[in-house]
Amino acid sequence: MIKTKEALIPYLLLVAALVGGLLWHASETVPGLGRTITTGTANVGGPFTLTDQDGKKRSLSDFRGKYVLIYFGYSFCPDVCPTTLGVVAQALDDLGADASRIVPVFITIDPERDTPSVLKTYMAAFGPRFVGLTGSPKDIAAVEKAYRVYAKKSPIKGGGYGVDHSSVLYLMGPDGRLVSFYDELIPPKDLAKDLKAKI
Ligand code: NI
Repeated sequence: MIKTKEALIPYLLLVAALVGGLLWHASETVPGLGRTITTGTANVGGPFTLTDQDGKKRSLSDFRGKYVLIYFGYSFCPDVCPTTLGVVAQALDDLGADASRIVPVFITIDPERDTPSVLKTYMAAFGPRFVGLTGSPKDIAAVEKAYRVYAKKSPIKGGGYGVDHSSVLYLMGPDGRLVSFYDELIPPKDLAKDLKAKI
């Protein structure tokens, strides 16, 4: 999987979408290649109800009062997803006690393969904090749309498929609204620092 295809282009598309939505908001500055962008009133995100790695229904509203750090990916992803989840795990470790105010959530973009039991094994590799979510292809498609996620299956030589996808961390506030987002290239200590400033 080509990193720029998986990560950079969809990220720039998301930035473009956000910039488009923010043009009227004159006080915002949106750095095209910045590590973080404070989006203010951008209309990204929204409620969802999916199934976690224990088979329980979980909604964004279940986490009200906490910050939720959402990442979309898939467990078969060979490189970017595990790297990014590792960054999140490290950043939360670095935050110490403040980490209890943030729930890291992984939402699969490959619901056909990422069943709750597959996610249970996968999430466990990143520590006990992570909530892994899956659902019907229709439910997942609706969440992808709300969060402006780019995800497209691509066949792998020799059989099977990968999923090219945007690689963005969304920080949702205790009220369920988008606070900030980060690209997956952010170093753990920078992510920890910015999370500490925002929560
Ligand atoms: Ni991935």
